[in-house]
Amino acid sequence: MAERFYYPSDEVLAQANVPEYEQRYRYSIEQREAFWAEQAATLAWYQPWDKVLDDSNKPFYQWFTGGKINIIHNAIDRHLTGATRNKLAIIWESEKGQVRSFSYHALNREVCQFANVLKSMGVQKGDIVTIYMPQIPELAFAMLACAKIGAAHSVVYGGFSVEALAARIEDADSRVLVTADGGFRRGKPTDLKSIANEAMQRSPSIEVCITVRNNGLEVQMESERDFWYHDLQSLPIASPRCDTEVMDAEDRLFILYTSGTTGKPKGLVHTHGGYAVYTATTHRMAFDIKPEDRWWCAADPGWITGHSYMIYGPLINASTLIMYEGAPNYPYPSRWWQMVEKYGVTILYTSPTAIRGLMRFGDRWSARYDLSSLRLLGSVGEPINPEAWRWYYEVIGGSRCPIIDTWWQTETGGFMICPLPITPLKPGSATKPFFGNEIGVVDDAGNEVPVGEEGKLVVKNPWPGMARTIFGDPQRYAELYWGDYADKGYYKAGDSAKIDEDGYVWIIGRMDEVLKVSGYRLGTAEIESALVSHPAVTEAAAIGLPHELKGTGIHTYVLLRSGLIGDKHLETELKEHVARELGRIATPESVQFVESLPKTRSGKIMRRVLRARALGQDEGDLSTLEE
Ligand code: WT7
Repeated sequence: MAERFYYPSDEVLAQANVPEYEQRYRYSIEQREAFWAEQAATLAWYQPWDKVLDDSNKPFYQWFTGGKINIIHNAIDRHLTGATRNKLAIIWESEKGQVRSFSYHALNREVCQFANVLKSMGVQKGDIVTIYMPQIPELAFAMLACAKIGAAHSVVYGGFSVEALAARIEDADSRVLVTADGGFRRGKPTDLKSIANEAMQRSPSIEVCITVRNNGLEVQMESERDFWYHDLQSLPIASPRCDTEVMDAEDRLFILYTSGTTGKPKGLVHTHGGYAVYTATTHRMAFDIKPEDRWWCAADPGWITGHSYMIYGPLINASTLIMYEGAPNYPYPSRWWQMVEKYGVTILYTSPTAIRGLMRFGDRWSARYDLSSLRLLGSVGEPINPEAWRWYYEVIGGSRCPIIDTWWQTETGGFMICPLPITPLKPGSATKPFFGNEIGVVDDAGNEVPVGEEGKLVVKNPWPGMARTIFGDPQRYAELYWGDYADKGYYKAGDSAKIDEDGYVWIIGRMDEVLKVSGYRLGTAEIESALVSHPAVTEAAAIGLPHELKGTGIHTYVLLRSGLIGDKHLETELKEHVARELGRIATPESVQFVESLPKTRSGKIMRRVLRARALGQDEGDLSTLEE
């Protein structure tokens, strides 16, 4: 932790949107509501709010109550006058090199058309539309069209598979699914529609499925249920004019499922008002957004990073955003760097896994391209190791671009701990709280642990971007996040962390049974239930172990049905089974066949013991172990 600081250059300091931190931070926590009211006032409201924060029903906080807004009115409608109208909103490039770009004017047209299509399918305010797509412009159009007419979207990451999709459709009780024939990955077509078809069989609530033609794969369409996107868009019903629905600030914008401690994914609910204010403010301040920026968030829209910082925050701030569907190193490890030069990208925001993955090919790939347009870099999803940080900083950023390491979660909606471009940096630390937030590292009683010691990361206050509830399970929301420190009103993040003598926060990792594999969030319980769904398996345990590229790799322990013998063949089959059920990202590194699993007397698997054994470490307190 005794790191040297990396200081911002004079140029970075001179152009900072926020030239000073400490004083402004103090103001933002002493007068939290005034601070957020000022930020909210930069957006367009149909009707101003009565109350900035309503905390009368903790922990179900509400923001900007009485206010009328629609996030689309801010992300699109208000940009349709003046010069922004013809500014590029989205530049999309496919793996094969196809380019499509949309001005704000064109984006509006596409969104209006699809909004009208959704309406014609009976989608109404309050409905939840499930979206399962590759990273193509239509994915953004579908999300934005839902929001425009007041329907909520539930985007399921296109890398997920049948079981994950089916479980999410079922939980949301979605009537409408928007999907595509498939995408491309490393030059090969991927197949989404047949996965969608299988998921619809498992969860039959879907009455209408709209499919985008993207990779040309042959697909099975069921009459009455299945429609082609392009067919619908060319009908008179798909008029390019559509009114934006006036929403209450607290109305639901989307639900996004994330993994937790049980096998059942949690649908976190975000709203039109507070979420718009929070994503726009954090994006503008932490990344010093300027009108001429070319912003590239190289995440997938299927995750919260894609929602907040690929789509909503940047569009509200009228940025030009880059979208790329494909592998970072296809056909060569220079793909991203070529795109940075080609589009004059000014800010690149990605994950430590992607950085490590590209770093391993060495410096010569980026050296061929002119990366001088870059002025800021960002990192998200997992702690960034100092080696990757330095490579990103020196080789990609030319020792010129501050690295904005942003700590946040699906639940927080936006950045909670992150530097501003003016903040002196320490590689591996997300530095300090964003405005309005008080962060603590505490013990079980909620008391601060001494400087430099590990404890539980908490947020001591509500913030506008916070998830409002877990869809269909408010009780679980209250208990899981706000229950441990209810007397103090702290939000428990589920991470462990340290704060050093300079007040810098160092995230250590998850404390629950959540794994961050290549920055993706997966629950051990989901992996275990996928394994157990295979006929050969009676019990399974999954743990995370350090992995050089992925940060964490999945390792599994499997008890077979009696009489079966675990061999190489079955190992491969089980790995493939998990990939088929959950998605490729969930593929285990190893499957070990065991005779028994370490359990507590109440029958809970002691993953801690498995982890210690695998790492050759002390197994710790075994007094609760059954045998
Ligand atoms: C978990 C949340 C935030 C969008 C993507 C992930 C880990 C996230 C950082 C960071 C260290 C980080 C935490 C957190 N995490 N950002 N900058 N440094 N760890 O969202 O899938 O909801 O995962 O990701 O463990 O709890 P998510």
